[in-house]
Amino acid sequence: MKPLRMALTKGRLEKDTVALLERIGYDCEAVHNKGRKLILPVGDRLEVVLAKAADVITYVEHGVCDLGVVGKDTIMENGTSFYEVLDLGFGRCKFALAAPKGSDFFGGYASRTIATKYPNVARNYFESKAMDIRFIKIEGSVELAPLLGLSDAIVDIVETGTTLKENGLEVVETICDISARLIVNTASLKLRKAEIEELVAQMEQAKEQA
Ligand code: PRP
Repeated sequence: MKPLRMALTKGRLEKDTVALLERIGYDCEAVHNKGRKLILPVGDRLEVVLAKAADVITYVEHGVCDLGVVGKDTIMENGTSFYEVLDLGFGRCKFALAAPKGSDFFGGYASRTIATKYPNVARNYFESKAMDIRFIKIEGSVELAPLLGLSDAIVDIVETGTTLKENGLEVVETICDISARLIVNTASLKLRKAEIEELVAQMEQAKEQA
């Protein structure tokens, strides 16, 4: 039987997942010595694929990867045509609305401009608020937008709060908590049910030992 294929979000989530797989007993030597290789064996029953967050979802949705590890932020922004089976507990941060310190974001009736890397999340968040909002998509360092006068506020990820603080911004409202999730392709879960369920159970157990 070919190994199960798991897409990992490159970077911190990749490292935390590898640490978790090693606690289960998987041999992650190839990942540690990966060089520029992107598909790596982890023991003989699993292989990992290293990808950008949104691409992890694409690969799992299309079934070319059976499983994936991706942040809830990317899931909320990019769709859910897969099973989200486990909150892995790491990669914890939150989505927040943030604005220049002391600015009265919700005051008055003027329209507001929001800069964000996550337009779908931002739109959903503002849906329940009767406000006139314009959204501008930014690709990174979103904190720049209010500093440059492009937007009144941002919807972004806050982890330690340092980036906001060092740029004179503050959280106006927390939107929701975020952490890494294990996702599974819907067909894979049917076709390789026993193997996947065993792996998920192992990961759930190893997560408690962190
Ligand atoms: C994220 C996020 C914030 C920062 C928050 O950016 O967009 O800018 O981290 O972290 P903090 O609260 O600990 O300061 P990331 O580093 O992923 O890069 P990006 O700005 O290019 O998206």
